Amino acid sequence: MVTSALPYANGPIHLGHMLEYIQTDIWVRFQKLRGNTCTYVCADDTHGTPIMLKAQQLGMTPEAMIAKVAEEHKADFADFLVEFDNYHSTHSEENRKWASEVYTRLKANGYITTRVIEQLYDPEKGMFLPDRFVKGTCPKCKTEDQYGDNCESCGSTYSPTELINPQSVVSGATPVLKESEHFFFDLPQFKEVLAQWTHSGALQSEMANKLSEWFESGLQQWDISRDAPYFGFEIPGTNGEKFFYVWLDAPIGYMGAFQALCDRRDDLNFDEYWGQDSKAELYHFIGKDIIYFHSLFWPAMLHGAQLRKPTNVFAHGYVTVNGEKMSKSRGTFIKARTYLDNLHPEYLRYYYAAKLNDRIDDLDLNLEDFAQRVNSDMVGKLVNIASRTAGFIAKRFDGTLADAIDNPALLAEFQNAKAEIETLFEGREYGKGIREIMALADKANAYIAEMAPWSLAKQEGMEQKTHEVCSMGLHLFKILMTYLKPVLPEMSANVEQFLNTELTWASIDTVLTGHRINKFKALIQRIEPAKIEAIVEQTKAEVAAEKAASAPAVTLEKNDELEKEPIADTISFDDFAKVDLRVARIAKAEHVEGAKKLLQLTLDLGGETRNVFAGIKSAYQPEDLEGKLTVMVANLAPRKMKFGLSEGMVLAAGPGGEEIYILNPDEGAKPGQRIM
Ligand code: MSP
Ligand code: ZN
Repeated sequence: MVTSALPYANGPIHLGHMLEYIQTDIWVRFQKLRGNTCTYVCADDTHGTPIMLKAQQLGMTPEAMIAKVAEEHKADFADFLVEFDNYHSTHSEENRKWASEVYTRLKANGYITTRVIEQLYDPEKGMFLPDRFVKGTCPKCKTEDQYGDNCESCGSTYSPTELINPQSVVSGATPVLKESEHFFFDLPQFKEVLAQWTHSGALQSEMANKLSEWFESGLQQWDISRDAPYFGFEIPGTNGEKFFYVWLDAPIGYMGAFQALCDRRDDLNFDEYWGQDSKAELYHFIGKDIIYFHSLFWPAMLHGAQLRKPTNVFAHGYVTVNGEKMSKSRGTFIKARTYLDNLHPEYLRYYYAAKLNDRIDDLDLNLEDFAQRVNSDMVGKLVNIASRTAGFIAKRFDGTLADAIDNPALLAEFQNAKAEIETLFEGREYGKGIREIMALADKANAYIAEMAPWSLAKQEGMEQKTHEVCSMGLHLFKILMTYLKPVLPEMSANVEQFLNTELTWASIDTVLTGHRINKFKALIQRIEPAKIEAIVEQTKAEVAAEKAASAPAVTLEKNDELEKEPIADTISFDDFAKVDLRVARIAKAEHVEGAKKLLQLTLDLGGETRNVFAGIKSAYQPEDLEGKLTVMVANLAPRKMKFGLSEGMVLAAGPGGEEIYILNPDEGAKPGQRIM
């Protein structure tokens, strides 16, 4: 049984993730190709605070969000030709059952303790804050805006309570300390079991070193509970108050995914794989960042719950792009989907394979080198063998391979490489394996160049020789494609169609004589450098769009003003320009004897004044108006009123009564300025 780490369900799969799934998929396909029984399961990791908050941000339920993300993840993996036997979810009944079961067994066996701890709490949001959700000033170097667990500026680590001026990332509130009872997994009890497990398998040396460092610095109790609100599984018997920390039910998700597969397949028995006495091998492929969880907590949990421990845990390093950490601003934080929109998945499968080894080193995806390497190896070396020989077989020999092989010694060399290539792939030394295969491809090309079937074909009496040379070339090609089948599943399927035979590990040793083949079709194109450019540009555009989408939304004020007063018929600009609107300062405002609704305003237009009677008495006192800037219609025909001549109009909104709002130009406007 083989697993890859379960990707978090709050974001898309990117090319960093893909290293792991491609590495695992190649290994699984290799096992299956050799005839081993191998089951590959994975799932989305769906629980925890970041997923809960992300769903809130999107205005979705977490269930709806993880369902959507699962579809995207599955499509990305399928299109990268990663073939799981089951891809499940940690938010599943199978996983709930196993999380409860493992916990219950650990508790019964005396490995669960409880203790009240103090933690930062967001009083506004009403939730405890994980370290990453508190920001503040670093207590050591005083750099502002640092996370609650470590400082990106000076690198020191601390607890969030040590931050100066801490703030909740969720609400901006100042967190307060609050007590709560937590559940702990008693890791120190497993010191000996873990030490033994470490020595039982062939752990990678970097992994063994890390483990002994951790042993020396001492094992700690592990906090496995979180308080509501939390998106996860409730801890049995806690009245909906306590939930399993996401990292408790995440690795159990491997079991959940396998259980769901067993439930629909008769040939798989759960206990045969997970029971204490299991004879099955269990391998986890993971990234270097999650070694602690997989090599300490996980084997200890399994042991404490009377289940089998992993046979081995294989860690890989991180993907860098063009020598640097994947970066959104440089356009190198490339999503799986963005890559797939532009390039064939097997280019990347080949490149990662060509660079992978069994260690935990980081792996650089250099985009220029990527295109060059793929073009020279896959197109220039590999496909070239077939494209230089296939045509003759089709045109001159009726699509049938010769009865004899031209160079049995060379064929034997290709066949004898099998043991070495097998060892390298089994040991996850894919890069070395690819080098062996490409060295053979060079030999095949040299052989064809030397034999030159294109000139043989023109020579009298060389009919048979031409046939045998071209058949030989295709046999060499067939062997290489079989070795590469785990790396290039689609291309090898196309080659199977072309050669009209299944590429199996055993078939490496057989020769197809007098065998009919099909028409040769182009197997793969060269990578155009423009495509790489397009991926980087598309990534930059996606990052910009994401940024815009996460900017605070425009909030609209819903009311019925437009229904009460619909917008008037369209007018031309010239019509509008006839209205001369001016900034005016209210120099004087007075009551008018005997008028119930009117105030008399003296409007200053920057030296000149106008006398205006305005029906705003129900809303304004004269002293509130004096000195204010407002807007007036300056070219309105004067109107003779009972109290005198009104020489214009001030602009105001509202239905009347107390609800009258006169317009004020923004600060800086000068009396007399025209408004357009
Ligand atoms: N959900 C946890 C794993 C739980 S396993 C029980 C997690 N998820 S993740 O989405 O962050 O990462 C999934 C896997 O991808 C991890 O093994 C991680 O190391 C790997 N990678 C994520 N980014 C990577 C690179 N840039 N390069 C290589 N691997 C990377 O961790
Ligand atoms: Zn600092």
